[in-house]
Amino acid sequence: MATLQLKSIRKTYPKADIETLKGIDIEIDSGEFLILVGPSGCGKSTLMNTIAGLESITGGEIKIDGRNVEQVAPKDRDIAMVFQSYALYPNMTVRGNIAFGLEMKKMPKPEIDLEVQRVAEMLQIEQLLDRKPSQLSGGQRQRVAMGRALARRPKLYLFDEPLSNLDAKLRVDMRHQIKRLHQQLGTTIVYVTHDQIEAMTLADRIAVMRDGELQQLGTPADIYNTPSNLFVAGFMGSPSMNFVKGVVEVQEGKSLLALVGDDGARSMLPLPAGMELWQGKEVVMGIRPEHLSEGSDMNHQDTKVTGLIEVLEPTGPDTIAMVRFFNQEVACRLSPDSKVKVGESVTLSIDLQKVVLFDGQTEKRIQLSND
Ligand SMILES: Nc1ncnc2c1ncn2[C@@H]1O[C@H](COP(=O)(O)OP(=O)(O)O)[C@@H](O)[C@H]1O
Ligand SMILES: [Mg+2]
Repeated sequence: MATLQLKSIRKTYPKADIETLKGIDIEIDSGEFLILVGPSGCGKSTLMNTIAGLESITGGEIKIDGRNVEQVAPKDRDIAMVFQSYALYPNMTVRGNIAFGLEMKKMPKPEIDLEVQRVAEMLQIEQLLDRKPSQLSGGQRQRVAMGRALARRPKLYLFDEPLSNLDAKLRVDMRHQIKRLHQQLGTTIVYVTHDQIEAMTLADRIAVMRDGELQQLGTPADIYNTPSNLFVAGFMGSPSMNFVKGVVEVQEGKSLLALVGDDGARSMLPLPAGMELWQGKEVVMGIRPEHLSEGSDMNHQDTKVTGLIEVLEPTGPDTIAMVRFFNQEVACRLSPDSKVKVGESVTLSIDLQKVVLFDGQTEKRIQLSND
């Protein structure tokens, strides 16, 4: 177990005209599971490679257990990595690949055998132990690469989309195994994924990156419920948060969001208390699909909207409806028992306690006094 401090990490690749990492600050506690997410090309793998020592940094400081590792070679950092492009030793069997790191550490043979067996069971590759990498599928190779890392028990694990080549069922199994492993060993883990469920279920904290910058660092609940800006709000969650743009108006002491349609027609949505100060300003209301519910809650007449169902997507546990109201299309998570039909209208109530508001200019979340 180890702490990891990333201080103002900067990286510009030779001959590149833009900076890939623009000052990343993250402190990771010993035993913490940190998930790194962000669009393709935002610098996640670059950051992982700098931690591993495979890429130099052009600014900042990386400390493992308080010690600056700038001068420490990758092999001496006591990190195990599983990256997107995993290289197995082609001439060794699966068993040999997994055991290699342990043999280098001079672990006694009986212990190595036990460790290889433990890891192979966990990754469901026991029947493959005597094969060579060339005799394995992509997903099997990925599991062997994972096994090699897991057998080592290093201070720090770096996983860069380790489950990306696996089919859906195996991915879920592996996710449970990784979570269990972390609970048992309490190892410090930095893990890159583009899978929303993986991020939400595995992380102690999530770091959201965009264009080489950290957008938000927080618990899954922080990121999901109080995203710091429109980008984070739209990035995390599937289907995405709905955004409704309008101008704040105050009528009889109550603030409303005035929406203006293409034809100039206006419609009003209620706003939470505390928005009066924003009168005349453009704001974006963010509503998660699950906070638009079907049916009539008589106490909240004013938070209802009526729209036309355009598409229905039953997923099993729920049904996602794409609903058009007032020139906007919003996704709503309805009960699978819902009787709604495409082409019909539906009345939805907005859970105003749960909406998130953003400044239309800066795109930052507006903090209300009751936050
Ligand atoms: N070895 C390299 N040389 C030059 N540019 C690179 C190199 N590796 C990555 N990049 C660039 O750095 C940016 C971030 O890449 P990467 O860290 O792989 O993103 P991610 O893992 O988030 O998809 C991209 O624009 C990519 O083209
Ligand atoms: Mg990458």
